[in-house]
Amino acid sequence: MKRTKVIDALKRTDFGSEIIIEGWVRSKRGSKGIFFIAINDGSTIKNIQIVGEDQNFDESVIKLITTGACLKVTGVLVESPASGQASEVQARDIQVLGTCDASYPMQKKGQSFEFMRQHAHMRLRTNTFGAVMRIRHNMAMAIHTYFHEHGFFYFHTPLITASDCEGAGNMFQVTTKNLYDLQKDEQGKIIYDDDFFGEQTSLTVSGQLEGELGATALGAIYTFGPTFRAENSNTPRHLAEFWMIEPEVAFLDQEELMDLEEDFIKYCVRWALDHCQDDLEFLNKMIDKTLIERLQGVLKEDFVRLPYTEGINILQEAIKAGHKFEFPCNWGDDLASEHERYLVEEHFRKPVIMTDYPRAFKSFYMKQNAPVDAANPDGASVGYRGAVAPGPTMQGTDVLFPSIGEIIGGSVREEDYDKLMGEIERRQMDKTHLWWYVDTRRWGSCPHAGFGLGFERLILFVTGMQNIRDVIPFPRTPKNATF
Ligand code: 4AD
Ligand code: MG
Repeated sequence: MKRTKVIDALKRTDFGSEIIIEGWVRSKRGSKGIFFIAINDGSTIKNIQIVGEDQNFDESVIKLITTGACLKVTGVLVESPASGQASEVQARDIQVLGTCDASYPMQKKGQSFEFMRQHAHMRLRTNTFGAVMRIRHNMAMAIHTYFHEHGFFYFHTPLITASDCEGAGNMFQVTTKNLYDLQKDEQGKIIYDDDFFGEQTSLTVSGQLEGELGATALGAIYTFGPTFRAENSNTPRHLAEFWMIEPEVAFLDQEELMDLEEDFIKYCVRWALDHCQDDLEFLNKMIDKTLIERLQGVLKEDFVRLPYTEGINILQEAIKAGHKFEFPCNWGDDLASEHERYLVEEHFRKPVIMTDYPRAFKSFYMKQNAPVDAANPDGASVGYRGAVAPGPTMQGTDVLFPSIGEIIGGSVREEDYDKLMGEIERRQMDKTHLWWYVDTRRWGSCPHAGFGLGFERLILFVTGMQNIRDVIPFPRTPKNATF
């Protein structure tokens, strides 16, 4: 006979039938010659109760039934007299597949997340991590389903690249060179001619540039893969290796891009509410009492669409009214997370899509807004819904979320060859690695737009977890690549 998964066993009503359950002991208690074991096999947050009489089992076997031990239980499915569960199993035979002694680090309840991170190989067996990992899986399914149903093609972009998409330079190098014997040229630069790819290569920080090649051929694509950033930011929102979803769509303007961002996020949140009820209820009880309410709230709200310039005005008003920020926020400054949080959590109290950022801190590929005065391209510019900014702006569309900050970074792309080349030159970027990218603007260029959603930031929001290290099975952060 095959085993029944706990999730299925709890739904069965063929009481009296024989059943096999395999899983790990969550707890065991006993009284008056009867023992009760709660078993979990990972298929659901719920445990199934195993009941047995001491007299029917070897004492030596009963002794080995400890928290964390792995069991195979053969017995009879019975209706449970206990409230809160429909069925339980009356044990006839118990085999201890794997014993578990007191040194098992997950034995105690209420371990700190910090402690569990140090035992990331075992933390997956806890209720919280089980719930988070099942939700993570469900979110991946939601994402693929959303794009498939909306006519996007899943497009695979390379992980090894010779170009730096975001231009921030926080990249991990990929080389087969002997690091003990590096050949350098007269200027002291490392010679890569004899390296594996014959040039300097790194792990990708984004699949966008290749994604644009896909979108300008297939119409609409999305990527969903690992992304690497060597930024040394030890925050609860940053990983060195994270997963990003990057849709890219031809013939999409800024308004439609924001519609897509909003619709997509809401679809994912709705999916979680529809498919992950048990796990969400658990997290709502144990991690964040407002979680489910917050998820439902997001579905009801229209996201605010706010030009950066207006955002700065709101922040300046707040300062005038006595609000204190640690960092400055004058027009032209990149917003710090305290500014984003003020706008999202205090001022609007709902998600905000911020548009039309100053050129100075956004990426080279973003569509440039028209200058108010054509003769002065570095002066005031016109953005979303005619909003005028005091300087040059680009059509970014970042989504800012309560308690997360930036969850999506997106933009309309500059499709004009001359403007794009002008920007690349203005930034003194190395053109040699981008020739294939700018070719899209030479032959059959088209308006297009896209965005990147940080998968783990979405999981943070949907689970109510506080630290990004706790929503990916094996986090990669500075000085941490153990498991
Ligand atoms: O804003 P970013 O840097 O945008 C891009 O990479 C664009 N090429 C995306 C595009 O338009 N196709 O990153 C996108 C998102 C961020 O909003 C954030 O959610 C997430 O990726 N992200 C990180 N998540 C975890 N750890 C990090 N170090 C992250 N850096 C960015
Ligand atoms: Mg960004």
